[in-house]
Amino acid sequence: MKIVYFTVTGQTRRFINKLDLPAYEIEPANPFFEINEPFILVVPTYDQEITEVVNDFLDYKSNREQLQGVAGGGNLNFAELFVYTAKDIARDYKVPMLFAFEFSGTNEDVESFKKVVNELESKRN
Ligand SMILES: Cc1cc2nc3c(=O)[nH]c(=O)nc-3n(C[C@H](O)[C@H](O)[C@H](O)COP(=O)(O)O)c2cc1C
Repeated sequence: MKIVYFTVTGQTRRFINKLDLPAYEIEPANPFFEINEPFILVVPTYDQEITEVVNDFLDYKSNREQLQGVAGGGNLNFAELFVYTAKDIARDYKVPMLFAFEFSGTNEDVESFKKVVNELESKRN
């Protein structure tokens, strides 16, 4: 399963690099890339103006049909707003909210998320 992610300050990229899974980073300057394979989206949490490039990516060609679920990175100090970007996308695109972590994730987060990815993959096979 491919991981597609977005990052502004690099925390999410650091999390993704620890997973050692095939990944594609959404480019804010040109989010219009057709992925052509099933993927899990990992997004940090920011105002909609910042994350709308993620919607541009999801709405491009067949990308939406390939979206299997969403994971969110955030900061627990934001309390009820913790990982709301990922939650909103899961709701709007009708896919499961799979996982949440802070910043670049702990080693435990990395292991837990890998399990979630594996479980989703085995369900699809
Ligand atoms: C301006 C700003 C607003 C943020 N708002 C939220 C928020 O509402 N909820 C949340 O969980 N995290 C929030 N965060 C935390 C980031 O989502 C978090 O640090 C994330 O790991 C950043 O990922 P990135 O480095 O890949 O961009 C905010 C961070 C900044 C700088």
